Amino acid sequence: MANEAPLSFEATAFQCFVRGLRGVWRDEAYRGAVEAAKRAGSDDLPEIERRARESSAYRLYSWLERHSQQFKYYGRYGVVRWMEQRKGALEKVLQDAAKRHPERLVLDPALALPDYVEQVDTHQHGGGIWSDACDAFAYETSSSAYSFSLFNPRSPMDVYAAAARAIAPQAKAILDLGCTSGGSTRALKRAFPDAKVTGIDVAAPTMMLAHLRTLEEGLEIHWRQANAENLPNEHGSADLVASHWLYHEMPPAAVRRSLREARRVLKKGGGFLAYDMYLVPGGAIGRWLQAGYAARNNEPFAHTYAGMDMKAELEAAGFTGIEMRVAHPEPDDAVKAGALPEFRTHYMTMITARAA
Ligand SMILES: C[S@@+](CC[C@H](N)C(=O)[O-])C[C@H]1O[C@@H](n2cnc3c(N)ncnc32)[C@H](O)[C@@H]1O
Repeated sequence: MANEAPLSFEATAFQCFVRGLRGVWRDEAYRGAVEAAKRAGSDDLPEIERRARESSAYRLYSWLERHSQQFKYYGRYGVVRWMEQRKGALEKVLQDAAKRHPERLVLDPALALPDYVEQVDTHQHGGGIWSDACDAFAYETSSSAYSFSLFNPRSPMDVYAAAARAIAPQAKAILDLGCTSGGSTRALKRAFPDAKVTGIDVAAPTMMLAHLRTLEEGLEIHWRQANAENLPNEHGSADLVASHWLYHEMPPAAVRRSLREARRVLKKGGGFLAYDMYLVPGGAIGRWLQAGYAARNNEPFAHTYAGMDMKAELEAAGFTGIEMRVAHPEPDDAVKAGALPEFRTHYMTMITARAA
């Protein structure tokens, strides 16, 4: 993969510093916040919050949760600032790539962005990933080399692709909803080399970057700018509809419409897979941490998605054989038993089902 805007020594050092701050958030500050929450001795989230605010560990934890992310994007050597200095060159790279195999990149300039994409600076990234080339490259850099999940950024994709193979081993037509710059889509294509794999997203710049990266890797993937709530695909045309980290960015009504669309485009018996933050370990304290994260990192629907009854939603949308389990890339026995993890991370849940 070409690196069109390599970070300078200073920018790399700055990002390593921010990553160090994130380590403090994940470990010491998190443990202090959990201790403070336990002292509240309550299952009531507002009461836990009120009592935890008395603790400096929790104040540090919540400050770092919000501000380390802002530093990453907008500090003096933040990745958005860095990309903005190269805007013209980055736009040209994407436009040049779009001229190669243009039949594989179908953009829809008339597509209206959903409010929950346009009006939320998701991850505190102003303009999200849909505004321009800088944002697409900034998201790609920040979610790979400087990933704040603090584990190998490719490992969730490998878990995702393996689950896809398990649910639909013979799939020939696959959709990856919310594909962004195509990390999850390429993982699916590697796992299903003979299938037609299509990445779907509402954001054009990031799909252009997905197209570029896929050409670089020599894979044939199709990209279609569309809304997961209103797919352009025919009824009963797909063997597998999958998504990696999509639904926690959509409000419940939009998730519901997307499930119905997934069922509509799937063949009977086709596979559905959603790999995302859904099951929240750790009881009331886990839910309190998740709600705080959703507010502080501008991911309001991470909280509402975790509160949805996905089994009932999938049944109502026409799915059967629904299974859900914690399926984190680095499994943790405590979490499997429902307890809080040793350190703060966002536990991943695998939801699978079949079109009835
Ligand atoms: C966290 S990212 C997904 C990451 C991606 N799957 C990967 O593996 O790198 C969420 C993506 O969902 C997209 N998205 C949000 N709502 C959407 C919708 N209704 N239809 C299609 N894409 C949507 C956003 O534009 C964003 O690119």
